[in-house]
Amino acid sequence: MSRVYRPSDYVVEKSRLPTFEKYKEMHKKSIEDPEGFWTEIANEFHWQTPFQPGNFLSYNFDLSKGDIFVKWLQGAVTNVCFNLLDRNVRNGHGDKIAYYWEGNHPDDYSRITYKKLMDLVCQLANALRENGIRKGDRVSIYMPMILETVVCMLACARIGAIHSVVFAGFSPDSLAERMADCKAKLLVTTDGAWRGEKLLVLKKTCDEALGKAKKNFNHTVNKCIVVSHLNRVTPCGKMPDSKSLYEWNDDIDVWWHDIMEGQSTICPPEWMDAEDPLFMLYTSGSTGKPKGVLHTTAGYMLYATATFRYVFDYREKDIYWCTADVGWITGHTYVVYSPLANAATSVMFEGTPFYPDNDRYWSLVQKYKVSQFYTAPTAIRSLMKFGDDIVRQHNLSSLRVLGSVGEPINPEAWLWYYNVIGSGRCSIVDTFWQTETGGHVLTSLPGATPMKPGAAGFPFFGVEPSLIDENGKLIEGVGEGYLVFSKPWPGTMRTLFGDHDRYEKVYFSKFNGYYCTGDGARRDEDGFLWVTGRIDDMLNVSGHLMSTAEVEGVLTEEPRVSEAAVVSKPHPVKGESLYCFVILNEGARFDADLVNALKKRVRNRIGAFAAPDIIQYAPGLPKTRSGKIMRRILRKIALGEKDVGDTSTLADPSIVEELLNNRPKA
Ligand code: PRX
Repeated sequence: MSRVYRPSDYVVEKSRLPTFEKYKEMHKKSIEDPEGFWTEIANEFHWQTPFQPGNFLSYNFDLSKGDIFVKWLQGAVTNVCFNLLDRNVRNGHGDKIAYYWEGNHPDDYSRITYKKLMDLVCQLANALRENGIRKGDRVSIYMPMILETVVCMLACARIGAIHSVVFAGFSPDSLAERMADCKAKLLVTTDGAWRGEKLLVLKKTCDEALGKAKKNFNHTVNKCIVVSHLNRVTPCGKMPDSKSLYEWNDDIDVWWHDIMEGQSTICPPEWMDAEDPLFMLYTSGSTGKPKGVLHTTAGYMLYATATFRYVFDYREKDIYWCTADVGWITGHTYVVYSPLANAATSVMFEGTPFYPDNDRYWSLVQKYKVSQFYTAPTAIRSLMKFGDDIVRQHNLSSLRVLGSVGEPINPEAWLWYYNVIGSGRCSIVDTFWQTETGGHVLTSLPGATPMKPGAAGFPFFGVEPSLIDENGKLIEGVGEGYLVFSKPWPGTMRTLFGDHDRYEKVYFSKFNGYYCTGDGARRDEDGFLWVTGRIDDMLNVSGHLMSTAEVEGVLTEEPRVSEAAVVSKPHPVKGESLYCFVILNEGARFDADLVNALKKRVRNRIGAFAAPDIIQYAPGLPKTRSGKIMRRILRKIALGEKDVGDTSTLADPSIVEELLNNRPKA
């Protein structure tokens, strides 16, 4: 049985929810009276047209009753950007720092107030309008962690354009596919960015992607706005001449500073219906084709606001820092939308935890006196390696809440986070959620809930999780099953962009009446929920979700490979890693050249974060007589476990032995 950690007096004294009872009471209210609960938060915002009582929520999660839909606050009209900026400026926060921005190089930093952010957003919004962008148009964003990225997302929100941020580690192919899928009219990027000592020429990736979007998908993007970002402090002194790094095409390329020049800082917002789209964000799908998860206006704003406030217990003078990249949902909700909705001051960091040294995170916590720090288990594990002394050289006494997100956190990493980073007095919030959920759905709450190392904890307000077995039977009390939800909370996704059928099929067809997360979970004797990981063919490498099918598709593009099977193998830092089996075509040789070519291919086609760790030659794969690959067996082989379980359904059981004997040396 795991030890229970109670919130320390230090956390409880400041907490909005100082007891477990208070949390339970509020949770009960949020379930029994969602309108009453969410109205309190909605009342803080500006509504051009207020929502109509009685129209608060309508939804259907049951395919047998018709189409799936979720609608919150129907009839209400508002604008998210207006609420994040103009409202806060009007409420006296104009001079408050919205972000302390810290560049890749420690000598490169700046800050921006709410007023200044509003001015820049309005200027860019005007420029976007001038470039023909209107309500409902899609704008792709391929940017590093810089303030212009926030400006760009909010400028889209201001004019009702739907932003589609693509993580700037994705390859040209991935960016092309995403721009074509959403039919983006415009792309925003930078000339490049440094990550540690590595130069990334984002403009070059974009040029290739624009070419591929046209060639492979017959999609043309009209404009590419480029932020000049490389003329800053660099790790190597002088910058190479930008002309040698990328091409410039006068027909579509424009500099950010040129289109911003002379733009007015006044820009009337586009008033949006509660259910009008706010943004879309691609996430991996188990068939390989990315899914454009769509979030809408009012519900997302309320949910982002509430989760930030309660999960991080943010207070007026706190300094909050989420290390996630804006290219992922964590960056959307917890770097951009929710801190600004709460008029918070955040740190935004461009660089890596290892540059110029392995104490960069801790030196920034000290520099900015961070009170809430939110990162991923993979980062914690990679920093644990450097020992405790490097941490203890910094004053981390400002910390109060430590967050974890992206994958299950192993108890060892949890304890290090708790004891060494949090000095045994901070609350840890292990936040379980997904691109699709918009915000945290399971978590502990500082001050209120007890904690167990490795458990996500309890449902957030408005969330009612269930566990269900393979046959659709609900598991009451202690037990393990699929993690599902029978009702929506305000921040949940509304559809997959352009593919409502796929949305219904992927999330609602497995268990009638339930949204299925694709994760397994266990409820223990104290009611804690433990997320056990994906139960579909998805992998989570360093918190990046990807599908085995996606990687297999790329491996089989190699002419020497006829078939591939990819499974997850546990990894001490990354959580999971990719272990790939490849069957070769007649006459092809398995050698170092092929292994390198395959790794390179995956990097180029998907992105560096998807690079396989191990590639094994396979004379055949363990398949059932009907031809289905038994991944359960491949996972055992990847681990070198001789006891692979029942092999009686295999067409050729001898293949197991052969694969086990030919595992490459790590
Ligand atoms: O498997 C779960 C895992 O990450 C998946 C969602 O990935 P993505 O949509 O990219 O969003 C990541 C950031 C919210 C989930 O289905 N996951 C995320 N957070 C946790 C987690 N697994 C366990 N514990 C968590 N705290």
